[in-house]
Amino acid sequence: MKAIILEKFGGPDVFVERDLPTPKPSRSEVLVKIKASGFNPVDVKMRSGSAYGMELPKVLGVDFSGVIEAVGDPHGEFSVGDKVFGLTLGAYAEAICVPTTHIAKMPKNLSFEEAAVVPVVYLTAFQAMIGKGILQQDRPFFIAGGSGGVGTAAIQLARAYRGGPVFTTAGRPESRDYLIKELQIPGQQILDYRGLDLEKMAAKLIEMNGGSRFYFAFDCVGGKSKELCLQIADVGGHVATILPEDKSFPHLPWGRDGLFWQKSLSLHMIYLFATIYKSQLNALAKLFEKQELPPPKVEEVGSLSAESVQKGHKLLEDGRSLRKLVMTQSDSK
Ligand SMILES: NC(=O)c1ccc[n+]([C@@H]2O[C@H](COP(=O)([O-])OP(=O)(O)OC[C@H]3O[C@@H](n4cnc5c(N)ncnc54)[C@H](OP(=O)(O)O)[C@@H]3O)[C@@H](O)[C@H]2O)c1
Repeated sequence: MKAIILEKFGGPDVFVERDLPTPKPSRSEVLVKIKASGFNPVDVKMRSGSAYGMELPKVLGVDFSGVIEAVGDPHGEFSVGDKVFGLTLGAYAEAICVPTTHIAKMPKNLSFEEAAVVPVVYLTAFQAMIGKGILQQDRPFFIAGGSGGVGTAAIQLARAYRGGPVFTTAGRPESRDYLIKELQIPGQQILDYRGLDLEKMAAKLIEMNGGSRFYFAFDCVGGKSKELCLQIADVGGHVATILPEDKSFPHLPWGRDGLFWQKSLSLHMIYLFATIYKSQLNALAKLFEKQELPPPKVEEVGSLSAESVQKGHKLLEDGRSLRKLVMTQSDSK
C-alpha cells in the first residue's frame, strides 16, 4: 500500500512516499481502507520533533474516515463494508489497522471528507465540555481561540447542548469575520487581543460579560491565554485546557501563590491520546445525523501523495485556512 512516511524530523518537505506491506488486523482491530485523512496541529508537532518522543520512520496523520476491508474478530460489532471514522496514528496511507475502540460508524449524512476531520477536534471539545460535565445551559462561558479547529468544535457543541452564550478571542481580522459570519458569534462577544496586556484583556472580557467573571474558561491556545482564563474565571469556577505548560508557568495548580489555589478553581486537563473514544464518537455521530451539529467546512489539499501532505503542513503552519484541511484518496468520491 502507498504511505507517506516521515523518515527524519524537519520542515514540511521531509515527507516521502513509500510502498509498505498492507497490515493485518489483530483480533481487537479492523483494517480500514482510508478514504480521507484530516490534518491537525499535532501532525506538525510530530513532524518537527518538538513533541512526543517518537521513533522514526513513522506514518503520521491521526484523523481518518474509510471503509472496513477486514475484521480481526468475525463476531465483533463491525463488518466488512462498514463506513467508519476515528483516530489513530498512521492516517497518511491507503489503509490502516485500528483498534475497534478508536472508531465508530460514520454519520450517515457526512461525506468521507467531512467525517475525516471530526475526530480530533470534536472529541477534544466534547471531552472538555461534556465529558467533564462542565457545560451549563444558558450560562456564559469563555473560549480562548474560538476560531481554531477545537474552538470551532467547542462553539458548535455548546450550541447543540444549549450552553453559552460564548465569549471568545480573535487576533486576525479573518478569524473575527469567520466567528461572526460562519459561527454566528456576535461581534460584542469577541475580544481582539492584539496589543493588549493580560490585565486589559481580562478587564475587557469581564466588562463584555456585564461585569461578571466566567464560571468556565476553556483554554485552546496555551501560555498567556491560559493565564487569561485563570484571571477571568470566577471563584470556584472551572478552567479546562488542552495544552501543557513548562515549569515557568506562574500558576501551578498546587502552588500557594497561584490563582488555582487562591480562587479554588477546578482544573481539567484534556489529553486526547490518553483516552478511549468509541462512545463519544458514537454520540457525535448521532448529533451530526440529527443535524444538531452542522457538517464541518473542509478544504481539500489533494489526493494521497507526499506533495499533498507537504501542502497540508505548509497551510497548517501558515494558519491561513479557517477550514479543516483534508486529503482524499483518488477513489474517495
Ligand atoms: N490536548 C489534546 O489532546 C489536544 C487535542 C487537540 C488539539 N490540541 C492542541 O491545541 C491547540 C489548538 O488546536 P486547534 O486544532 O484548535 O488549532 P488551530 O486550528 O491552529 O487554532 C489555533 C487558534 O489559536 C488562535 N491563536 C493563535 N495565536 C494566538 C494568541 N497569541 N493568542 C490568542 N489566540 C491565538 C488562532 O486564532 P487567532 O490568532 O486569529 O486569534 C486560532 O483560533 C494546538 O496546539 C493543538 O496541538 C491538543
